[in-house]
Amino acid sequence: MTMVDIREYRKLHMFKPVDERTQEHFSAWEDVKKNPALADEIQLQPKEDDADFIRDNTKVPWVEIKSKVFFPAPSIKAEAQQLLRTECFTSHRADNSGGWMSLCVYGMSSVHTNSTHDYQLPEFAERDLSDWTDIAKFCPITKDWLENNGLYDRYTRVRFVVVLPGGWISPHADVDSKVGLGATNVSLNNPDGCGLVMEEYGKMPFEDGNIFKINTGYEHAVYNNSGMPRFHMILDGDVSDYQRNEIDKNYAKMFDV
Ligand SMILES: [Fe+2]
Repeated sequence: MTMVDIREYRKLHMFKPVDERTQEHFSAWEDVKKNPALADEIQLQPKEDDADFIRDNTKVPWVEIKSKVFFPAPSIKAEAQQLLRTECFTSHRADNSGGWMSLCVYGMSSVHTNSTHDYQLPEFAERDLSDWTDIAKFCPITKDWLENNGLYDRYTRVRFVVVLPGGWISPHADVDSKVGLGATNVSLNNPDGCGLVMEEYGKMPFEDGNIFKINTGYEHAVYNNSGMPRFHMILDGDVSDYQRNEIDKNYAKMFDV
């Protein structure tokens, strides 16, 4: 990407420079490299009568998983990039972030990027109202992968999330408990100089085109100190047996050292 492209993004979306808390979080944890498997005192074993036992009970900060089919990350990124360029993204939780934008491909609408209570809607509204949004027809490769990746029986919300060059998300935990893995975070690209840093465990091993289950009970912050937008996707919905198996298999591998 050239410098001209970067200025184009900055011109389209003005945002606050990185705040002190985010910088402090990065200085404290960015270089820490703690083995995530240490979060569980003992390695959990799958339970026959509870298919979600490991997903619901582990304290590990993340587990990497794979899609059932080929994951065309560069093509999906190109679709997201075109939607950003044409100003389809909406700013996301702008109070505690800068240059963080989002767009729903599946959900209540393309701009309903938050959870139901942020819109003063009952929780069941998401399940009742969600479908492919109007934006899905502008990203056919993305939609095709989402329909075939095997990770969910049914989606509730699927979002593109972008952190623009110089953009950031201040330290926060999305849930009160450090037990259990939440949504799926899909990296479309992860330029050098940009990272998601977790308290205690440091920078997550994101690369272009890898996929993680994240424990968002740990405080985490994002900072894009690169010259390129960082595009990820966040998938939520009813987890499939394929995904359960991926979690259990890759969780066990983390202890295999
Ligand atoms: Fe978060």
